[in-house]
Amino acid sequence: MENTKLIALVTGAVKGIGKAITNKLIKEGYFVVMVDIDKAGGEELERINSGQCVFYQGSISKEAEVNKMFAFVIEKMGHLDLLVNNAGIIKDNMIWNMPEDDFDSVIDINLKGTWLMCKAAAVVMKKQNQGRIVNIASRAWLGNKGQSNYSASKAGIIGLTRVLALELGKYNVCVNAIAPGLIDTPLTQGLTKEVLENLIQAQPTKSIGQPEDIANAVAFLGSYNTHFITGQTLYVDGGKSIGAGV
Ligand SMILES: NC(=O)c1ccc[n+]([C@@H]2O[C@H](COP(=O)([O-])OP(=O)(O)OC[C@H]3O[C@@H](n4cnc5c(N)ncnc54)[C@H](O)[C@@H]3O)[C@@H](O)[C@H]2O)c1
Repeated sequence: MENTKLIALVTGAVKGIGKAITNKLIKEGYFVVMVDIDKAGGEELERINSGQCVFYQGSISKEAEVNKMFAFVIEKMGHLDLLVNNAGIIKDNMIWNMPEDDFDSVIDINLKGTWLMCKAAAVVMKKQNQGRIVNIASRAWLGNKGQSNYSASKAGIIGLTRVLALELGKYNVCVNAIAPGLIDTPLTQGLTKEVLENLIQAQPTKSIGQPEDIANAVAFLGSYNTHFITGQTLYVDGGKSIGAGV
């Protein structure tokens, strides 16, 4: 039977920013399809938020798998109102030390995965004549030493977002990006204490953001009150993207 609630699909929903986005969207009244490769974490979240979400184990980087995921969503829910492309990985190194595989895997998941999810969502949302897509990029698209693969993938997401705003605008589909700065998640908790402290001191706010800061921005850009905002990148980074005087 078709689910009458607003349906959101969140990728990388099990940890960090994705988990905060899932929790926020549930609070806002959405039914959330949580996509992640982490089976144990996904099943645990589904149990905690019983009846308000469903976990789908899958990776975003293979078209056949993405198509199966969307077939599942449409068969079970009947529609998709919001896609949040949040799944992403880092494999940092200076370019002269970066193995080709670490370039390929970061581009494959962060950029190609986001593109595949957008492609599948575009088909559904165009047909519905309604939809919202929020892509999680990064402030690092502006450039970060040691992140030639990651920065390029996130710059690609911003280009993709702008093109899709043009292609889907007349179908009442808004596509926007969020560029988080330094956020306290398992991804940044892997940094040494010294590196993390230096990054915090380089922030105008001298603080680290919380996953909820990104979740609140997703709820805003994903809502249907924002029909005239599309193709934009919203920085949620404590002012770091301003760049001067830090
Ligand atoms: N944490 C930060 O400071 C920060 C800053 C800027 C941008 N971001 C971006 O925000 C997003 C979330 O980051 P985070 O810090 O919460 O990361 P995280 O590593 O804590 O969580 C990422 C989640 O994505 C899942 N995932 C990984 N590969 C996947 C795949 N192929 N298919 C489906 N799911 C997959 C993981 O299992 C995990 O649950 C990423 O796109 C990241 O690049 C994070």
